[in-house]
Parts: sequence; C-alpha cells; structure tokens
Amino acid sequence: MSADVNISGQHHRFFELKVARCVARELSKALFLLCSIVALAPAQAQQVAHIGVAGCAGSTCHGSNVAFAGSNVVQNEFRIWNEQDPHARAYKTLLTAESQAIARKLGIGDAHTDDLCLGCHADNVSAEFRGDDFQIADGVGCEVCHGGAGDYLDIHADGDHQANLDAGLYPTEQPEARARMCVSCHVGNQTDRRITHQIMGAGHPRLSFELNTFSTIQPAHYRVDEDYIERKGNISELQMWAVGQLVAAEQMLDNVEAFPRSGLFPEFVHMDCLGCHQAMSKITWSKNPLTQQKPGALRYNDSHLMMSYQIALAVAPSAASQLLKNIRVFLNSAESIQSPAATIGGLRRSMATLKSALQQQPITSTQGFELLKALLDIGLASSHRDYASAEQSAMAINSVLKVMDADGMLSANRSRLTGGLDSIYAGLNDAEHYRPKEFLAGLRKIKSAIN
Ligand code: HEC
Ligand code: HEC
Ligand code: HEC
Ligand code: HEC
Repeated sequence: MSADVNISGQHHRFFELKVARCVARELSKALFLLCSIVALAPAQAQQVAHIGVAGCAGSTCHGSNVAFAGSNVVQNEFRIWNEQDPHARAYKTLLTAESQAIARKLGIGDAHTDDLCLGCHADNVSAEFRGDDFQIADGVGCEVCHGGAGDYLDIHADGDHQANLDAGLYPTEQPEARARMCVSCHVGNQTDRRITHQIMGAGHPRLSFELNTFSTIQPAHYRVDEDYIERKGNISELQMWAVGQLVAAEQMLDNVEAFPRSGLFPEFVHMDCLGCHQAMSKITWSKNPLTQQKPGALRYNDSHLMMSYQIALAVAPSAASQLLKNIRVFLNSAESIQSPAATIGGLRRSMATLKSALQQQPITSTQGFELLKALLDIGLASSHRDYASAEQSAMAINSVLKVMDADGMLSANRSRLTGGLDSIYAGLNDAEHYRPKEFLAGLRKIKSAIN
C-alpha cells in the first residue's frame, strides 16, 4: 500500500541503522491502564538471579538457528540479538581504543571493568545475583531488558504471561515500563546509570532517544502477530511515542534534581549540548515564543518537554497552557537553580496530569492528524533553532506519518511528503552542522502536502 512512500527514513544517514518495520498496532485502553500499576523499577528487577545469556540460548529455547514455525515466540532470539543487535556488542565497545581513551581521560581504570561504564554497557548486577552461566562480556543481554530469569525460568514456557510477570519477567511490551527501562540507559538515570558532562567531555557520544523510533530500529527478535496481540495486547506506536516522551522528560527532571550541579556550575549534561558547542561566528539566536528565553541564556535540553507540550495540545488541551507555563519557569531557572524542587514541582504536577490523561485516553491514529499539525506549526513557530528539538520533531513526524499510513489515513501527496522528509533529514544529517533552513523547508513542504 505504501511501497512508494518512504516514510521510514531508512535511506537517510540520520536513520543509519534504523531499519523500519511498519507494524500497525492499536492499543486496548484496559491494557494501558495496567502499565502504571505493574511497572517495575529496574532496580527491583535486579534482585533476582541473572542466569546469563547462555542460560537463555539453548537450542530448544531461544537459541534456535531459524524461527520455529509452531511456536508463539520465534526462538531464534539469541541469533538475532547476537548477530544484529547493537546491545550484544555493548561490552565489546568498552574494549575499543575509543573507550580506552575515554577511561584514560577520566582517570578511571579499564572501561570494561569500571562500574561507570558497565552500568549501561552490560548487565552489571552485583556478584550474588550472577548465576553459573552469567558473563559480564555478554553486554546488554536478555535479562537487562527482561529481568533476571532466576524466578521465571521454570514457568515461562507455559505461556501464562501474567504468571511470568508475577515471577519477575519485566513487562517490556507496556509503553511506560519499556520506556523507563530504555531511558535508564539512553537518557541515563540518577543512580547506577549516571551520565555526566565529564564523561561527555572525555569523548562519549551525545545521547538521544525516542522510544518508538528506537524500538523500531532495534532488530526485532519478536513478531507482533495474532497470538502476540492476544497475549500482550495491541499497542499503538503513537502511544509508544507519546509515553516515551513523557517518561524521558520525567527522567531528565529526576536527573536534574539528583545532580543539578557540578561544583559551582549547573551540570551541563542536562543542557542542550549545541547551546555551548558551536562556532561563535554562527549567530543563530532568535526569540523562541514558546520558551521566551533571553539571548545568551543557558539552555536545558528541553526536547522531551517540548514534545510533551505538543502531546498536551493534542490529547489534553485544557492542561497545555499550564504545562507550558511550568516548562518556562523551569527553563528560565537554568542559571540560578539552587533548589531544583522549587522550580520543578509545578512542572512535575503538570506532567502527571498529562500522563494520567494519556492513560485514560490513549492517543489514537485519528488524533494523528492534529498531532502532525501541532508538530509542524510549533516547529515552524519556534524555528527549531536547537538540534535536539529538531531531531525529536523529525522522529515524531516520522512516527505519526508511519502510523497514519499503516492505518490508510494518509491521503496526502506522497512525493511531496517524501520530499519534505528528505529535506528534514538533510538538515539533520550532521549534528554539528545542523541546517535549520533545510529542516524548516521540510516542515513547510509536509504542511503544504497535508493541507
Ligand atoms: C543497560 C543499558 C541499556 C538498556 C536498558 C537499553 N539500551 Fe539500547 N543501547 C545501549 C548501549 C550501551 C548501546 C550502544 C551499544 C554499542 O554500540 O556499543 C545501545 C544501542 C541501542 C540502539 C542503537 C542506536 C544507534 O544509534 O543505532 C538502539 C536502537 C537501542 N539501543 C534501543 C534500545 C531500546 C528500544 C531499549 C529498550 C527496549 C534499549 N535500547 C535499552 C544500552 C542500553
Ligand atoms: C547512561 C548510560 C551510559 C553510560 C554511563 C556509558 N555509556 Fe557509553 N553509550 C551509552 C549508549 C546508550 C550508547 C549508544 C548511543 C546511541 O547510539 O544512541 C553509548 C555509546 C558508547 C560508545 C560509542 C559506541 C559506538 O558503537 O559507536 C562508546 C565508545 C561508549 N559508549 C563508551 C563508554 C565508556 C567508555 C563509558 C564509561 C566511561 C560509557 N560508555 C558509559 C550509554 C552509556
Ligand atoms: C534492549 C532490550 C532487549 C534485549 C537485550 C532483549 N530483548 Fe527480548 N524483547 C525486548 C522488547 C522491547 C520486546 C517486545 C515487547 C515484548 O513482547 O515484551 C521483546 C520481546 C521478547 C520476547 C517475546 C516474544 C513474544 O512473542 O512474546 C522474547 C521471547 C524475547 N524478547 C527474548 C529475548 C532473548 C532470549 C534475549 C537475549 C538473547 C532478548 N530477548 C534480549 C527487549 C529486549
Ligand atoms: C554550558 C556549556 C556547555 C554545555 C551545555 C555542554 N558543554 Fe561540553 N564543554 C563545555 C566546556 C566549558 C568544555 C571544556 C572545554 C575545554 O576543555 O576546552 C566542554 C567540553 C566538551 C567536550 C570535549 C571537547 C574537547 O575539546 O576535548 C565534549 C566532547 C563535550 N563537551 C560534549 C558535550 C555534550 C555531548 C554536551 C551535551 C550533553 C555538552 N558538551 C554540553 C561546555 C558545555
């Protein structure tokens, strides 16, 4: 149906590894309501023995060479993970010259033995939770995401999903739980997965994350088919996107509260990297009507917060202006932040209101059009001067178009849409040479295509 439309962005460098699988999913409301109740904190999930990847990868378990025909699950999960998934090489990355250089600059020992790196690049549970087959060199293995298998190993082939969850299987299919788990590494958390500007300064790549896009890019070792939907529900990609934004924004606020400063100064890792790291000859400042910050002001990375505002406009319009007010209070406190709780409190309440609205009324593909319009209009109004917001916008627009297309709701001129996306990605190709003009031209093209 959509073979002629490249709304997957897969030929763009921006989405280098990001191979798209267009899986249209619809969410049952009831299922989503469960999310907030059963979401386990990753820390909790760790208090069970981790058997190690080898323990999961038996040939009659998840280590088959080919997908099993008559089974609910593909059973070649190990092979897909091992051969295609970047998580399988996360530990090996710590052995590279690049990692050694980072470690040297930080003055720590070896990257592959230091907790600072292992927290996100491996399954770094403490010694008493490591089973016989456990190997730290497995990197980000099965149990990092699915929870320690010690207590569910014996029962989980029986197919009673709820029983598995009760025994400690992590609910990775549920948007909020999945988001919390992924962002703990991809945004960083306030405890064992903490990323700082010092680590960045030593050469660590900038982190950026969007739940739906990254879920799509991670090589799928599961099939969302009939029996999957029966067991786990039908989860909409738009809901995945929206919940991912709120959870990433909340994680960022948690981090700001936990480590607001580094010495005398605010901790720069919470800020927009390119707010500081760009050539002085490149004068790009213009007033952003949304954030209303002054020229020269220190800027938080507000990309997830701004997306949250756009979600509010689409799903909880009555709460949107209060949210924006609270975002502004927070953003304008970047330099003076002494007691983050004072400026974050109101924002947290607004975010909680929005989250419960989204839980009661999951975002549907019929709202996709409103959302798309908000993304385009706000993008154009704020001029997306900063790369991080533009990047989030691009992934959002991509996700919305993909869902609308899969649901047969995209009547717009396809070649104009593709042209618009091409222009957006061309603008974003290189974070250090962001080209807002091309990005904005892409937004305009898409806007004219859907009008
Ligand atoms: C324990 C930390 C951790 C968790 C949890 C985690 N990741 Fe990752 N992820 C990493 C690391 C580290 C890398 C980089 C691996 C490398 O190249 O060495 C990575 C890489 C990726 C990439 C490739 C990125 C790119 O630029 O191509 C994707 C996609 C991804 N993760 C998606 C996810 C998703 C989706 C989740 C949640 C379901 C998740 N990750 C959970 C640590 C984690
Ligand atoms: C908060 C979690 C976190 C911590 C702590 C962390 N990393 Fe990473 N690291 C990641 C993620 C996530 C990626 C993948 C980023 C992406 O592609 O989006 C990554 C990517 C990398 C890469 C680039 C890999 C590639 O394929 O290009 C290197 C090198 C690296 N990390 C080294 C380190 C070292 C060394 C340390 C310890 C000093 C460390 N990391 C600590 C999360 C973390
Ligand atoms: C970076 C996180 C991550 C890693 C690492 C990971 N998975 Fe998954 N896995 C997911 C996500 C996300 C899903 C899809 C949501 C769901 O069904 O729970 C999933 C789904 C599954 C499913 C469910 C399929 C179904 O039809 O219900 C199985 C089985 C599975 N993974 C096994 C494994 C095995 C075995 C490994 C290790 C070789 C592994 N996973 C590694 C994140 C991960
Ligand atoms: C408030 C300003 C500010 C922000 C925001 C900021 N940095 Fe920095 N950054 C600095 C300063 C100051 C240095 C130290 C420069 C030096 O040593 O000459 C630095 C150094 C670096 C370096 C090392 C450069 C070198 O020449 O060795 C890297 C890499 C880096 N930052 C990445 C980042 C990333 C990634 C982010 C966003 C997460 C970020 N920075 C956010 C101010 C900032």
